[in-house]
Amino acid sequence: MSLAARDERLLEVMDDPNCDPVRLHRTLRRFWAVNGAVSRWGRVYRNHVRPALARSTGPVRILDIGCGGGDVLRRLVRLARRDGFAVEGVGIDPDPRAWAAASSGAPVDGVSFRAAASGELVAAGERFDAVVSNHLLHHLDAVSLEAVLADSQTLATRVCVHSDIARSRLAYAAFAVCAAPIAPGTFLRVDGLRSIRRSYTRDELAARLPRGWLAEQPAAFRLLAVHRTWRFGVRPDEEAPA
Ligand SMILES: C[S@@+](CC[C@H](N)C(=O)[O-])C[C@H]1O[C@@H](n2cnc3c(N)ncnc32)[C@H](O)[C@@H]1O
Repeated sequence: MSLAARDERLLEVMDDPNCDPVRLHRTLRRFWAVNGAVSRWGRVYRNHVRPALARSTGPVRILDIGCGGGDVLRRLVRLARRDGFAVEGVGIDPDPRAWAAASSGAPVDGVSFRAAASGELVAAGERFDAVVSNHLLHHLDAVSLEAVLADSQTLATRVCVHSDIARSRLAYAAFAVCAAPIAPGTFLRVDGLRSIRRSYTRDELAARLPRGWLAEQPAAFRLLAVHRTWRFGVRPDEEAPA
């Protein structure tokens, strides 16, 4: 098996509509353990989300696309509230099984989950200060990736941050060993390894991003796709003609 190229044809077990529902539920509810260990949302919040929220003078909204079990959104809302923001968090996932898992978690004030796709929120005219995702990009084919990036750009008034794995042999080897204790009864290990094989390198992600987006590699195993609409203090569509 080579990690030199993305293996886009490899399907994750959780993406099979007929996979074992009990194991899937456990997988979604246990994502917090993987995310806490690898995803570094504390740093992403400090470097990208908080500075964007700080430009607002009123209540702020965060959207998590493909929220799975919902732990990343819960964490972001807690961090923002600790920093004094009046914050609402909305997590969406088109898979009703993910919505069920997210909704069965410990409730956090101001956090809600919907079984919905990003296009539905665009159609409803919703807006959010920050639009985020975690471990979503590698799941998407080229058409869905383009749609999710376009939707998130429309939905975000200040910043979009999509965080994902950076594919490497080392990431694969480390995950194979470290996932073993938390994986029993779930798809965490098999899908985590498939996720790494489906994931991008920084250059591959940069080549897939539309104009205005940046591919960053904040750590050896992590990638970010970032789009800021507030860089000049106003959204590009609000800028006065030169
Ligand atoms: C690996 S899980 C990540 C879940 C969660 N974000 C986390 O990090 O724990 C990927 C999630 O993306 C969702 N997903 C797949 N295709 C999607 C799409 N086109 N738009 C939004 N979510 C999608 C799946 O249903 C799944 O819950």
